[in-house]
Amino acid sequence: MSDSAVLDADCVRYGVIGTGMMGVEHIENILHLDGTTVSAIADTNAERREIGAQVARRQGGGDVIQFADHRTMLDSGLVDAVVIVTPNMTHADVLSDVLATDVHVMVEKPLCTTVADCQRVIAAETSGTAQRVVWMGLEYRYMPPTTALLNEIRSGTVGNVKMVSIREHRFPFLQKVDDWNRFNRNTGGTFVEKCCHFFDLMGLIADAEPVRVYASGAQDVNHLDETYDGEIPDVLDNGFVVVDFDNGVRGLLDLCMFAEASKNEQEISVTGDEGKVEAMVTESLLRIGRRADGQHVVSERSITDDSIRHVGLHDGASYLEHVDFLAAIRSGEAAKVTLLDGMTSVAIGVAAHRSIECGQPVEMGEVI
Ligand SMILES: NC(=O)c1ccc[n+]([C@@H]2O[C@H](COP(=O)([O-])OP(=O)(O)OC[C@H]3O[C@@H](n4cnc5c(N)ncnc54)[C@H](O)[C@@H]3O)[C@@H](O)[C@H]2O)c1
Repeated sequence: MSDSAVLDADCVRYGVIGTGMMGVEHIENILHLDGTTVSAIADTNAERREIGAQVARRQGGGDVIQFADHRTMLDSGLVDAVVIVTPNMTHADVLSDVLATDVHVMVEKPLCTTVADCQRVIAAETSGTAQRVVWMGLEYRYMPPTTALLNEIRSGTVGNVKMVSIREHRFPFLQKVDDWNRFNRNTGGTFVEKCCHFFDLMGLIADAEPVRVYASGAQDVNHLDETYDGEIPDVLDNGFVVVDFDNGVRGLLDLCMFAEASKNEQEISVTGDEGKVEAMVTESLLRIGRRADGQHVVSERSITDDSIRHVGLHDGASYLEHVDFLAAIRSGEAAKVTLLDGMTSVAIGVAAHRSIECGQPVEMGEVI
């Protein structure tokens, strides 16, 4: 156990930095864990701070101290762990401030909006001596059907994985506080902001490093009739991205953000030399076909996880991610999802945007 591990008997005091839509989701999840409290919240927006405090009180939390500046919160001594849930373009600076202390931290995806900023925070993490958990928030790993799919792959159900295809067909980007998500300069671009989740999953399933990215995409439908200070949003709303991995596995992302009229928001299909496994995430279904059983022979099962105490906005994935983060805080063990995982997922997104701009494949060595 490291010096900073928190014993089971101790209550872990969390601070949440950024109490917008996702910050509230984190507060609710933290308060569904045993032996935790949200002792402080920090948000630059007074209205959002008050909403965060109200949610914490409603969920049965104790006193929540509000801060307008996360640095004052860090100096207060009120928190053992923080969750960074501010807009993407602020992650690098806020995380750097947190990494200068010894509090445990989970940072929401995407790690940062650029690879250079990812490298900066990773250098800050590795240069310090603090013994604490630094956790990359990539909760799609924790969606129950995705976990079931990963378990099947790891137990050899499909043989050697060759192809990973992920389809996200969903609704347009929601409205955010101060409309930060309408511009690539704030988000990193759609393939960074949204799709880092899927590039992370691809790498996990392929169990390999990305070497090359080819992409085609555009902003064809969404937000074209909106203006902010006279500027039209520039966020891409559909595209295909192909990723080559260093063990020969091929990944495909099919993204459409004007396709809410779909049965599943995400469908993941993994094919190996012996069979195929598919996760229908919204329907919470897993389908398995093994070539040895013959053509069109497919079994299907529903996936449930009774350990989930709070379903929230992400099918219980945020809750399960917090269970593991808390376990690492209590045991002093290393994070299961690291800043390096965060950087790799961002770098694939950056490469995808570059490939669209230049109309050519982009080697990962060009972006990392
Ligand atoms: N894991 C997921 O599936 C998922 C889902 C949604 C959002 N997110 C991520 O969570 C983060 C927040 O997204 P959101 O949807 O909650 O946005 P949001 O706009 O609803 O909330 C952001 C909040 O951060 C506050 N804020 C801005 N700058 C700040 C600063 N410097 N210090 C403190 N507070 C600050 C804003 O006032 C706002 O209340 C983003 O990085 C986003 O990518 C992740």
